[in-house]
Amino acid sequence: MKDLSTVRAEYEKIRSSGARLDMSRGKPNKEQLDLSNGLLTCLREDEFKASDGTDCRNYGGLDGLPEAKQLLHRMLDVGPDEIIIGGNSSLNLMFDMVGHAMLRGVYGVEKPWAAQKPVFLCPAPGYDRHFAICEHFGIEMLPIPMLKDGPDMDLVEDIAGSDVKVKGIWCTPKYSNPTGVTYSDEVVRRLAAMKPKADDFRIFWDNAYAIHSLGTPEDLMDILSACRDAGNEDRVFIFGSTSKVTFAGAGVAMMGASTANLNFIRKRLSKQTIGPDKVNQLRHVKFFGNYENILKHMEKHAAIIKPKFDLVTGMLEQELGSCGLASWSQPAGGYFISLNTLPGKAKKVYDLAAAAGLVLTRVGDTFPYGKDPEDQNIRIAPTFPSLEEMEKAMELLLLCIRLA
Ligand SMILES: Cc1ncc(COP(=O)(O)O)c(C=O)c1O
Repeated sequence: MKDLSTVRAEYEKIRSSGARLDMSRGKPNKEQLDLSNGLLTCLREDEFKASDGTDCRNYGGLDGLPEAKQLLHRMLDVGPDEIIIGGNSSLNLMFDMVGHAMLRGVYGVEKPWAAQKPVFLCPAPGYDRHFAICEHFGIEMLPIPMLKDGPDMDLVEDIAGSDVKVKGIWCTPKYSNPTGVTYSDEVVRRLAAMKPKADDFRIFWDNAYAIHSLGTPEDLMDILSACRDAGNEDRVFIFGSTSKVTFAGAGVAMMGASTANLNFIRKRLSKQTIGPDKVNQLRHVKFFGNYENILKHMEKHAAIIKPKFDLVTGMLEQELGSCGLASWSQPAGGYFISLNTLPGKAKKVYDLAAAAGLVLTRVGDTFPYGKDPEDQNIRIAPTFPSLEEMEKAMELLLLCIRLA
Protein backbone atom coordinates (compact mmCIF):
# COMPACT_ATOMS: atom_id res chain seq x y z
CA MET A 1 0.00 0.00 0.00
CA LYS A 2 1.27 3.50 -0.90
CA ASP A 3 2.26 5.78 2.00
CA LEU A 4 0.17 8.89 2.58
CA SER A 5 2.66 11.41 1.21
CA THR A 6 2.79 9.49 -2.08
CA VAL A 7 -1.02 9.41 -2.15
CA ARG A 8 -1.15 13.16 -1.56
CA ALA A 9 1.41 13.89 -4.25
CA GLU A 10 -0.33 11.68 -6.82
CA TYR A 11 -3.69 13.27 -6.03
CA GLU A 12 -2.26 16.78 -6.44
CA LYS A 13 -0.68 15.81 -9.74
CA ILE A 14 -4.03 14.65 -11.13
CA ARG A 15 -5.86 17.64 -9.63
CA SER A 16 -3.59 20.10 -11.34
CA SER A 17 -3.72 18.24 -14.66
CA GLY A 18 -7.31 19.39 -15.37
CA ALA A 19 -8.64 15.84 -15.70
CA ARG A 20 -12.29 15.36 -16.76
CA LEU A 21 -13.59 11.98 -15.69
CA ASP A 22 -17.08 10.63 -15.00
CA MET A 23 -18.20 7.48 -13.17
CA SER A 24 -21.80 8.51 -12.66
CA ARG A 25 -23.50 7.59 -15.92
CA GLY A 26 -25.55 4.41 -15.67
CA LYS A 27 -26.05 4.07 -19.37
CA PRO A 28 -24.83 1.86 -22.19
CA ASN A 29 -21.70 2.84 -24.10
CA LYS A 30 -21.51 3.32 -27.87
CA GLU A 31 -20.25 -0.19 -28.53
CA GLN A 32 -23.27 -1.60 -26.72
CA LEU A 33 -25.66 0.63 -28.63
CA ASP A 34 -24.02 -0.41 -31.90
CA LEU A 35 -25.10 -4.01 -31.20
CA SER A 36 -28.66 -2.94 -32.00
CA ASN A 37 -28.06 -0.82 -35.07
CA GLY A 38 -29.93 -3.43 -37.08
CA LEU A 39 -33.07 -1.96 -35.53
CA LEU A 40 -32.60 1.08 -37.72
CA THR A 41 -32.81 -0.89 -40.94
CA CYS A 42 -34.61 -4.15 -40.18
CA LEU A 43 -38.01 -3.07 -41.48
CA ARG A 44 -38.43 -2.74 -45.24
CA GLU A 45 -40.57 0.07 -46.57
CA ASP A 46 -43.51 -2.31 -47.07
CA GLU A 47 -43.15 -4.03 -43.68
CA PHE A 48 -45.55 -2.24 -41.40
CA LYS A 49 -48.22 -4.86 -40.75
CA ALA A 50 -48.46 -6.86 -37.54
CA SER A 51 -49.36 -10.56 -37.61
CA ASP A 52 -53.05 -9.75 -37.00
CA GLY A 53 -53.10 -7.34 -39.94
CA THR A 54 -52.77 -4.17 -37.82
CA ASP A 55 -51.17 -1.33 -39.73
CA CYS A 56 -48.47 -0.29 -37.26
CA ARG A 57 -48.18 3.15 -38.82
CA ASN A 58 -51.67 4.04 -37.70
CA TYR A 59 -53.45 4.66 -34.38
CA GLY A 60 -54.72 1.83 -32.22
CA GLY A 61 -53.50 -1.29 -30.50
CA LEU A 62 -53.71 0.04 -26.96
CA ASP A 63 -51.73 -2.53 -25.03
CA GLY A 64 -49.14 -3.84 -27.47
CA LEU A 65 -48.76 -6.05 -30.53
CA PRO A 66 -49.45 -9.75 -29.89
CA GLU A 67 -46.05 -10.69 -31.32
CA ALA A 68 -44.30 -8.17 -29.05
CA LYS A 69 -46.04 -9.74 -26.05
CA GLN A 70 -44.98 -13.16 -27.32
CA LEU A 71 -41.38 -11.98 -27.70
CA LEU A 72 -41.05 -10.24 -24.35
CA HIS A 73 -43.29 -11.90 -21.75
CA ARG A 74 -40.56 -14.23 -20.51
CA MET A 75 -38.41 -11.24 -19.61
CA LEU A 76 -40.96 -10.39 -16.91
CA ASP A 77 -41.66 -14.03 -16.02
CA VAL A 78 -45.34 -13.69 -16.90
CA GLY A 79 -47.58 -15.28 -19.51
CA PRO A 80 -48.23 -13.65 -22.91
CA ASP A 81 -51.66 -12.62 -21.63
CA GLU A 82 -50.21 -11.07 -18.48
CA ILE A 83 -48.24 -8.28 -20.15
CA ILE A 84 -48.90 -4.84 -21.58
CA ILE A 85 -46.35 -3.34 -23.95
CA GLY A 86 -46.06 0.40 -23.51
CA GLY A 87 -43.96 3.19 -24.92
CA ASN A 88 -40.25 3.78 -24.55
CA SER A 89 -39.84 3.99 -20.77
CA SER A 90 -40.65 1.70 -17.86
CA LEU A 91 -40.05 4.57 -15.46
CA ASN A 92 -42.88 6.35 -17.20
CA LEU A 93 -45.14 3.33 -16.56
CA MET A 94 -44.17 3.37 -12.87
CA PHE A 95 -44.84 7.09 -12.60
CA ASP A 96 -48.26 6.59 -14.16
CA MET A 97 -49.12 3.70 -11.86
CA VAL A 98 -48.25 5.70 -8.77
CA GLY A 99 -49.94 8.83 -10.11
CA HIS A 100 -53.14 6.97 -10.88
CA ALA A 101 -53.17 5.27 -7.49
CA MET A 102 -52.73 8.66 -5.85
CA LEU A 103 -55.75 10.06 -7.70
CA ARG A 104 -58.02 7.05 -8.10
CA GLY A 105 -56.69 4.14 -6.06
CA VAL A 106 -55.91 0.67 -7.38
CA TYR A 107 -57.92 -2.24 -8.71
CA GLY A 108 -60.25 -3.52 -6.00
CA VAL A 109 -59.77 -0.51 -3.69
CA GLU A 110 -60.58 2.61 -5.66
CA LYS A 111 -59.77 5.03 -2.86
CA PRO A 112 -57.19 7.69 -3.74
CA TRP A 113 -53.93 7.12 -1.93
CA ALA A 114 -53.39 10.89 -1.84
CA ALA A 115 -56.15 11.29 0.75
CA GLN A 116 -54.53 8.72 3.07
CA LYS A 117 -51.04 10.20 3.71
CA PRO A 118 -49.40 7.31 1.86
CA VAL A 119 -46.05 5.82 2.81
CA PHE A 120 -43.70 3.71 0.69
CA LEU A 121 -41.05 1.30 1.91
CA CYS A 122 -37.79 2.05 0.13
CA PRO A 123 -35.07 -0.60 0.28
CA ALA A 124 -31.87 1.46 0.35
CA PRO A 125 -29.43 1.97 -1.17
CA GLY A 126 -31.79 1.95 -4.12
CA TYR A 127 -32.71 3.70 -7.37
CA ASP A 128 -32.90 7.48 -7.00
CA ARG A 129 -35.65 7.87 -9.59
CA HIS A 130 -38.00 5.61 -7.61
CA PHE A 131 -37.47 7.90 -4.66
CA ALA A 132 -37.97 10.95 -6.88
CA ILE A 133 -41.42 9.67 -7.91
CA CYS A 134 -42.41 9.42 -4.25
CA GLU A 135 -41.07 12.87 -3.51
CA HIS A 136 -42.91 14.30 -6.49
CA PHE A 137 -46.25 12.94 -5.28
CA GLY A 138 -45.63 13.73 -1.62
CA ILE A 139 -45.42 10.07 -0.59
CA GLU A 140 -43.48 9.62 2.63
CA MET A 141 -40.53 7.26 2.28
CA LEU A 142 -39.21 4.88 4.90
CA PRO A 143 -35.76 3.48 4.14
CA ILE A 144 -35.42 -0.28 4.62
CA PRO A 145 -31.91 -1.72 4.89
CA MET A 146 -30.86 -3.84 1.93
CA LEU A 147 -29.40 -7.13 3.14
CA LYS A 148 -27.40 -9.66 1.13
CA ASP A 149 -30.56 -11.33 -0.22
CA GLY A 150 -32.96 -8.41 -0.49
CA PRO A 151 -34.71 -5.96 1.83
CA ASP A 152 -34.86 -6.65 5.57
CA MET A 153 -38.11 -8.61 5.50
CA ASP A 154 -38.64 -8.65 9.26
CA LEU A 155 -38.84 -4.87 9.11
CA VAL A 156 -40.96 -4.84 5.94
CA GLU A 157 -43.51 -7.24 7.43
CA ASP A 158 -43.53 -5.41 10.70
CA ILE A 159 -44.05 -1.91 9.30
CA ALA A 160 -46.45 -2.83 6.48
CA GLY A 161 -48.33 -5.13 8.84
CA SER A 162 -49.00 -2.44 11.39
CA ASP A 163 -49.68 0.75 9.41
CA VAL A 164 -52.55 1.13 6.95
CA LYS A 165 -50.80 4.14 5.39
CA VAL A 166 -48.06 1.89 3.98
CA LYS A 167 -49.21 1.45 0.39
CA GLY A 168 -46.19 0.18 -1.46
CA ILE A 169 -42.61 -0.98 -1.70
CA TRP A 170 -40.05 -0.31 -4.43
CA CYS A 171 -38.09 -3.40 -5.46
CA THR A 172 -35.34 -3.81 -8.04
CA PRO A 173 -35.20 -7.54 -7.46
CA LYS A 174 -32.42 -8.65 -9.78
CA TYR A 175 -28.91 -7.17 -9.87
CA SER A 176 -30.41 -4.36 -7.85
CA ASN A 177 -29.48 -0.74 -8.53
CA PRO A 178 -26.96 -0.15 -7.01
CA THR A 179 -26.17 -3.11 -4.71
CA GLY A 180 -26.30 -5.84 -7.38
CA VAL A 181 -28.34 -8.02 -5.01
CA THR A 182 -30.75 -10.59 -6.44
CA TYR A 183 -33.62 -11.32 -4.05
CA SER A 184 -33.64 -14.83 -2.59
CA ASP A 185 -36.64 -17.16 -3.01
CA GLU A 186 -37.34 -16.68 0.68
CA VAL A 187 -37.59 -12.89 0.28
CA VAL A 188 -39.83 -13.21 -2.79
CA ARG A 189 -42.10 -15.69 -0.98
CA ARG A 190 -42.35 -13.45 2.07
CA LEU A 191 -43.18 -10.39 -0.04
CA ALA A 192 -45.86 -12.38 -1.82
CA ALA A 193 -47.37 -13.83 1.35
CA MET A 194 -47.00 -11.00 3.89
CA LYS A 195 -50.06 -9.50 5.47
CA PRO A 196 -50.00 -5.72 5.05
CA LYS A 197 -52.52 -3.72 7.02
CA ALA A 198 -53.56 -1.88 3.82
CA ASP A 199 -55.54 -4.01 1.37
CA ASP A 200 -54.38 -1.64 -1.38
CA PHE A 201 -50.69 -2.35 -0.68
CA ARG A 202 -48.74 -2.95 -3.90
CA ILE A 203 -45.27 -4.22 -4.77
CA PHE A 204 -43.56 -2.16 -7.50
CA TRP A 205 -41.30 -4.84 -8.97
CA ASP A 206 -38.89 -3.03 -11.26
CA ASN A 207 -37.08 -5.87 -12.97
CA ALA A 208 -34.95 -3.48 -15.05
CA TYR A 209 -31.97 -5.86 -15.10
CA ALA A 210 -33.87 -9.14 -15.59
CA ILE A 211 -31.53 -10.47 -18.29
CA HIS A 212 -28.48 -8.28 -17.72
CA SER A 213 -26.06 -10.90 -16.41
CA LEU A 214 -22.31 -10.52 -16.59
CA GLY A 215 -21.80 -14.29 -16.61
CA THR A 216 -23.88 -17.17 -15.31
CA PRO A 217 -27.36 -15.72 -14.66
CA GLU A 218 -28.70 -15.67 -11.11
CA ASP A 219 -32.21 -17.06 -10.58
CA LEU A 220 -35.03 -14.86 -9.42
CA MET A 221 -38.24 -16.47 -8.28
CA ASP A 222 -41.32 -15.62 -10.36
CA ILE A 223 -43.17 -13.13 -8.17
CA LEU A 224 -46.53 -13.24 -9.94
CA SER A 225 -46.78 -17.00 -9.36
CA ALA A 226 -45.57 -16.57 -5.77
CA CYS A 227 -48.30 -13.96 -5.19
CA ARG A 228 -50.88 -16.19 -6.85
CA ASP A 229 -49.85 -19.18 -4.71
CA ALA A 230 -50.28 -17.01 -1.63
CA GLY A 231 -53.72 -15.83 -2.77
CA ASN A 232 -52.45 -12.30 -3.49
CA GLU A 233 -52.16 -12.20 -7.26
CA ASP A 234 -53.22 -8.55 -7.52
CA ARG A 235 -50.45 -7.38 -5.19
CA VAL A 236 -47.65 -6.95 -7.71
CA PHE A 237 -46.92 -4.65 -10.67
CA ILE A 238 -43.92 -5.86 -12.67
CA PHE A 239 -41.94 -3.49 -14.90
CA GLY A 240 -39.19 -3.86 -17.46
CA SER A 241 -37.87 -2.47 -20.70
CA THR A 242 -35.35 -2.98 -23.46
CA SER A 243 -33.65 0.32 -22.60
CA LYS A 244 -30.43 -1.53 -21.79
CA VAL A 245 -31.01 -4.29 -24.32
CA THR A 246 -31.40 -2.19 -27.46
CA PHE A 247 -31.50 1.62 -27.32
CA ALA A 248 -31.72 3.47 -24.00
CA GLY A 249 -34.71 5.74 -24.25
CA ALA A 250 -35.77 4.28 -27.61
CA GLY A 251 -36.55 0.74 -26.53
CA VAL A 252 -39.82 -0.88 -25.56
CA ALA A 253 -41.25 -0.74 -22.04
CA MET A 254 -43.58 -3.31 -20.55
CA MET A 255 -45.62 -4.14 -17.53
CA GLY A 256 -46.84 -7.47 -16.15
CA ALA A 257 -49.62 -8.09 -13.64
CA SER A 258 -52.69 -10.21 -12.92
CA THR A 259 -55.49 -10.23 -15.48
CA ALA A 260 -57.72 -8.16 -13.19
CA ASN A 261 -54.99 -5.55 -12.69
CA LEU A 262 -54.27 -5.37 -16.41
CA ASN A 263 -57.96 -4.95 -17.28
CA PHE A 264 -58.14 -2.09 -14.78
CA ILE A 265 -55.00 -0.51 -16.25
CA ARG A 266 -56.26 -0.84 -19.82
CA LYS A 267 -59.27 1.31 -18.91
CA ARG A 268 -56.95 4.10 -17.76
CA LEU A 269 -54.69 3.64 -20.78
CA SER A 270 -57.64 4.09 -23.11
CA LYS A 271 -58.09 7.60 -21.70
CA GLN A 272 -54.40 8.35 -21.62
CA THR A 273 -53.31 7.40 -25.14
CA ILE A 274 -54.61 6.23 -28.49
CA GLY A 275 -51.83 3.68 -28.50
CA PRO A 276 -48.07 3.16 -28.13
CA ASP A 277 -45.37 3.25 -30.82
CA LYS A 278 -46.18 -0.01 -32.61
CA VAL A 279 -43.54 0.54 -35.28
CA ASN A 280 -40.86 0.30 -32.61
CA GLN A 281 -42.46 -2.85 -31.22
CA LEU A 282 -42.54 -4.35 -34.73
CA ARG A 283 -38.89 -3.41 -35.24
CA HIS A 284 -37.94 -5.20 -32.03
CA VAL A 285 -39.90 -8.29 -33.09
CA LYS A 286 -38.26 -8.34 -36.51
CA PHE A 287 -34.76 -7.63 -35.16
CA PHE A 288 -34.78 -10.38 -32.54
CA GLY A 289 -37.20 -12.97 -33.93
CA ASN A 290 -37.38 -14.84 -30.63
CA TYR A 291 -36.51 -14.61 -26.95
CA GLU A 292 -33.46 -16.88 -27.24
CA ASN A 293 -31.91 -14.34 -29.60
CA ILE A 294 -32.45 -11.62 -27.00
CA LEU A 295 -30.53 -13.71 -24.49
CA LYS A 296 -27.72 -14.23 -27.02
CA HIS A 297 -27.69 -10.49 -27.64
CA MET A 298 -27.27 -9.92 -23.88
CA GLU A 299 -24.17 -12.13 -23.92
CA LYS A 300 -22.65 -9.64 -26.35
CA HIS A 301 -23.43 -6.81 -23.93
CA ALA A 302 -21.78 -8.78 -21.14
CA ALA A 303 -18.66 -9.36 -23.22
CA ILE A 304 -18.32 -5.59 -23.66
CA ILE A 305 -18.98 -4.47 -20.10
CA LYS A 306 -17.67 -7.31 -17.93
CA PRO A 307 -14.01 -6.28 -18.36
CA LYS A 308 -14.95 -2.86 -16.93
CA PHE A 309 -16.58 -4.40 -13.87
CA ASP A 310 -13.55 -6.68 -13.46
CA LEU A 311 -11.24 -3.68 -13.72
CA VAL A 312 -13.11 -1.80 -10.98
CA THR A 313 -13.35 -4.71 -8.53
CA GLY A 314 -9.78 -5.79 -9.33
CA MET A 315 -8.38 -2.33 -8.58
CA LEU A 316 -10.44 -2.03 -5.41
CA GLU A 317 -9.19 -5.42 -4.24
CA GLN A 318 -5.59 -4.65 -5.06
CA GLU A 319 -5.50 -1.22 -3.40
CA LEU A 320 -7.95 -1.60 -0.56
CA GLY A 321 -8.44 -5.35 -0.20
CA SER A 322 -6.64 -5.69 3.08
CA CYS A 323 -6.93 -2.26 4.70
CA GLY A 324 -10.60 -2.07 5.71
CA LEU A 325 -11.12 1.44 4.31
CA ALA A 326 -14.00 0.36 2.10
CA SER A 327 -16.21 -2.55 1.08
CA TRP A 328 -17.88 -3.10 -2.28
CA SER A 329 -20.30 -5.33 -4.17
CA GLN A 330 -19.22 -7.99 -6.67
CA PRO A 331 -22.33 -7.99 -8.85
CA ALA A 332 -23.17 -10.86 -11.19
CA GLY A 333 -25.10 -8.47 -13.41
CA GLY A 334 -26.75 -5.08 -13.72
CA TYR A 335 -25.11 -1.72 -14.19
CA PHE A 336 -23.51 -0.76 -10.90
CA ILE A 337 -20.96 -1.46 -8.23
CA SER A 338 -21.94 -0.25 -4.79
CA LEU A 339 -19.01 1.02 -2.74
CA ASN A 340 -19.18 1.75 0.98
CA THR A 341 -16.47 3.93 2.49
CA LEU A 342 -15.98 4.10 6.23
CA PRO A 343 -19.01 5.80 7.82
CA GLY A 344 -18.93 9.58 7.46
CA LYS A 345 -16.45 9.58 4.57
CA ALA A 346 -18.45 9.35 1.33
CA LYS A 347 -19.15 13.08 1.01
CA LYS A 348 -15.50 13.81 1.66
CA VAL A 349 -14.50 11.33 -1.09
CA TYR A 350 -17.04 12.92 -3.41
CA ASP A 351 -15.67 16.43 -2.77
CA LEU A 352 -12.05 15.35 -3.22
CA ALA A 353 -12.97 13.59 -6.47
CA ALA A 354 -14.93 16.60 -7.74
CA ALA A 355 -12.04 18.94 -6.96
CA ALA A 356 -9.78 16.77 -9.10
CA GLY A 357 -12.22 16.51 -12.03
CA LEU A 358 -13.99 13.21 -11.32
CA VAL A 359 -17.80 13.19 -11.35
CA LEU A 360 -19.38 10.61 -9.06
CA THR A 361 -23.07 9.93 -8.46
CA ARG A 362 -24.07 12.45 -5.79
CA VAL A 363 -23.63 10.99 -2.34
CA GLY A 364 -27.06 10.40 -0.83
CA ASP A 365 -28.79 9.91 -4.20
CA THR A 366 -29.11 6.20 -3.48
CA PHE A 367 -31.23 6.94 -0.39
CA PRO A 368 -34.69 8.48 0.12
CA TYR A 369 -34.58 12.29 0.38
CA GLY A 370 -30.94 12.17 -0.77
CA LYS A 371 -29.82 11.35 2.76
CA ASP A 372 -27.40 8.53 3.35
CA PRO A 373 -27.64 8.16 7.14
CA GLU A 374 -24.14 6.72 7.35
CA ASP A 375 -22.64 8.98 4.66
CA GLN A 376 -20.84 5.99 3.16
CA ASN A 377 -22.43 4.82 -0.10
CA ILE A 378 -20.97 5.63 -3.52
CA ARG A 379 -22.52 4.23 -6.70
CA ILE A 380 -20.01 3.37 -9.41
CA ALA A 381 -21.31 3.03 -12.96
CA PRO A 382 -18.67 1.23 -15.04
CA THR A 383 -20.51 0.78 -18.35
CA PHE A 384 -20.19 4.11 -20.13
CA PRO A 385 -16.51 5.14 -19.93
CA SER A 386 -13.85 3.33 -21.95
CA LEU A 387 -11.58 0.89 -20.10
CA GLU A 388 -8.82 3.46 -20.25
CA GLU A 389 -11.00 6.24 -18.78
CA MET A 390 -12.30 3.86 -16.16
CA GLU A 391 -8.80 2.96 -15.08
CA LYS A 392 -7.86 6.65 -14.71
CA ALA A 393 -11.09 7.38 -12.83
CA MET A 394 -10.49 4.44 -10.48
CA GLU A 395 -6.91 5.51 -9.79
CA LEU A 396 -8.22 8.89 -8.72
CA LEU A 397 -11.11 7.45 -6.70
CA LEU A 398 -8.72 5.17 -4.80
CA LEU A 399 -6.50 8.13 -3.96
CA CYS A 400 -9.56 10.06 -2.73
CA ILE A 401 -10.62 7.17 -0.49
CA ARG A 402 -7.14 6.97 1.02
CA LEU A 403 -7.00 10.73 1.56
CA ALA A 404 -10.50 10.89 3.10
C1 LIG B 1 -33.80 0.17 -11.69
C2 LIG B 1 -34.09 0.96 -12.91
N1 LIG B 1 -35.35 1.04 -13.35
C3 LIG B 1 -35.67 1.75 -14.45
C4 LIG B 1 -34.71 2.42 -15.18
C5 LIG B 1 -35.11 3.21 -16.37
O1 LIG B 1 -35.80 2.39 -17.26
P1 LIG B 1 -36.47 2.96 -18.58
O2 LIG B 1 -35.40 3.42 -19.49
O3 LIG B 1 -37.22 1.78 -19.11
O4 LIG B 1 -37.41 4.07 -18.18
C6 LIG B 1 -33.37 2.35 -14.76
C7 LIG B 1 -32.33 3.09 -15.49
O5 LIG B 1 -31.25 3.31 -15.04
C8 LIG B 1 -33.07 1.61 -13.60
O6 LIG B 1 -31.80 1.52 -13.14
